[in-house]
Amino acid sequence: MIVTPQRNLGMDLVRVTESAAMSAARWMGRNQKEHGDQAAVDAMRLMLSSLDMDGVIVIGEGEKDKAPMLFNGEQIGNGQGPVVDVAVDPVEGTNLLAKGKPNAISVIAVSPRGTMWNPGPAFYMEKIAVGPEARDVIDLDAPVKDNLKNVARALGKDVEDLTVFVLERERHSHIIAEIAAAGARVTLHHDGDVAGALMAALPQTGVDLMINIGGTPEGVIAACALKPLGGQLLGRLSPQKPGEREAILAAGIDPSRILTLDDLVTSDDVHFAATGITDPGQLLGGVKYESGGARTYSLVIRGMSGTIRYIESIHRWEKLMRISGIDYV
Ligand code: FBP
Repeated sequence: MIVTPQRNLGMDLVRVTESAAMSAARWMGRNQKEHGDQAAVDAMRLMLSSLDMDGVIVIGEGEKDKAPMLFNGEQIGNGQGPVVDVAVDPVEGTNLLAKGKPNAISVIAVSPRGTMWNPGPAFYMEKIAVGPEARDVIDLDAPVKDNLKNVARALGKDVEDLTVFVLERERHSHIIAEIAAAGARVTLHHDGDVAGALMAALPQTGVDLMINIGGTPEGVIAACALKPLGGQLLGRLSPQKPGEREAILAAGIDPSRILTLDDLVTSDDVHFAATGITDPGQLLGGVKYESGGARTYSLVIRGMSGTIRYIESIHRWEKLMRISGIDYV
């Protein structure tokens, strides 16, 4: 049987994250997080409007941090082509960008309509993320030391060899203490647990797993990458803000339920793209401005084929601005 190759939407999506990253990176270290985010949102919105798809935003950035948004429910694309759910984070790590710290990235994920989990009013989630070898051995109810022992065994390592990504937050002091007591190593990051989950799932990043409480939208976005990678992300809502638990219950969501990748995105037909914004990116290099243009580093993952692409792009302002209408200079 002859199968016609299908269009890879991810190759369109990476142009969207490249564009957002190049606009946002102008604000690196300038301590104005809203401006950086707004620049990325504007570029992302404009690029998305050109895409052949009938998308609706399920995961939009903004509500938790009152950021300018590509808001939930917004229609995306030109209305033709695949009917999809869309998750965006134009700048994942707005503080990293504002402070000129590593690992801010721009991300987008797309899956067939109705297949992305909608967290509603749930802002925070406990998460454990790992790559394919350890996908069946993690347990959100188990003590940290047991998860470390089981992940180490699955990876053929000793617990002392493990590096665990954790967001640097007061709420994680007990997790950090338990990791230290078990003898594993910790890499603390101010922000960016989508990058953390990706590093946990991808080989040769120096990160073996991620354990922390981070954003629920970021959990769904990370799931769209980890599912095709064959990893695992287990999540359970962990309300942190006043009124969050009540709002979750009022929305009819069970906060005690453990969510797997299959709950967070039910389809395998997922497309994910990310572009580095700030350097030195552990996962993806940041935007490098050069004479007359810029260089970007991106990752594109396609669920149906399992293909992972690392893309280095060279952009020339003169030509790019003529065709995109975006002023990157
Ligand atoms: P923003 O890009 O929206 O600033 O999110 C950054 C981030 O660090 C996420 O990676 C993480 O999931 C979440 O914030 C953690 O929330 P908080 O900063 O409230 O602890």
